[in-house]
Amino acid sequence: MYAPTPRTTVNDHFHAAESAAQFVLTQASLRPRVGLVLGSGLGGFADSLSEAVRIPYARIPAFPRSTAIGHAGQMVIGKVGGVVVAAMQGRVHLYEGYSAQEVAFPMRVFGRMGIRAVILTNAAGGIDLSYQQGALVLIRDHINLQGQNPLTGPNHERLGPRFPDMTQAYAKSYREFAQEEGQKLAMTLHEGVYVALLGPSYETPAEIRYLRTIGADLVGMSTVGEVIAARHMGIKVLAISCVTNMAAGILDQTLSHAEVLETAERVRGQFEALLRAVLPRIFQDVDVVQA
Ligand code: HPA
Repeated sequence: MYAPTPRTTVNDHFHAAESAAQFVLTQASLRPRVGLVLGSGLGGFADSLSEAVRIPYARIPAFPRSTAIGHAGQMVIGKVGGVVVAAMQGRVHLYEGYSAQEVAFPMRVFGRMGIRAVILTNAAGGIDLSYQQGALVLIRDHINLQGQNPLTGPNHERLGPRFPDMTQAYAKSYREFAQEEGQKLAMTLHEGVYVALLGPSYETPAEIRYLRTIGADLVGMSTVGEVIAARHMGIKVLAISCVTNMAAGILDQTLSHAEVLETAERVRGQFEALLRAVLPRIFQDVDVVQA
């Protein structure tokens, strides 16, 4: 079996991200400053972008393709109001068999495209008993129980430092923007700690009791690898979970992906209104930083 050395891999990874970014930028005349990653059942937002250019992942060199149902698999560059964004309509997951580096690759491409802030969305199970199905939760911190990290192997200094700080992984100022805009929209936004597991099986009730004990409010199978890669590159992060179901064992019912997609669809309008309201605030922030 072909096994590249770690050094070759990291260089290839850097150059592959660079080539993919250059390719994407040749496809669109708009220059996105903010990136969006749209999770399970939440990809519809990208359909509403104006002056949109759609680039299937299959056309982007080295880009991983999503296999999960509910994930379209294309990058859409377009405008939301006056803000130019690059939206990933669908992401890839470790449970699909991708490596942590592959899962983080789109974030690397965002970074090399010049994106300085991202909004990540996901579907999650609610562990905090005060949540209800359909609630929107701003992630304020995470616990990585995936047993993997996209930064293992040799570090590429042009991407970021060997040991990146994670004390403010989820920008407090961005959560404040979201809270302010949510209030104007009469939405209640919770804040919570997201724990990521490998999946694809849902958790057992015993695992959920354990996760609550260690301080988790939400559980899912994505996001943390992308956030680690983003922070490595100094990209600021806002992450929002939709509680598509209460976690295993909380209610007297089984979990299903159909329920996840149904709930995501039900709150889609609220979710999109929030994204629309928050994007100009985040854009202003990255614009000021650049000036
Ligand atoms: N567990 C893990 N991932 C999820 C869940 C869940 O309950 N709901 C949506 N994604």
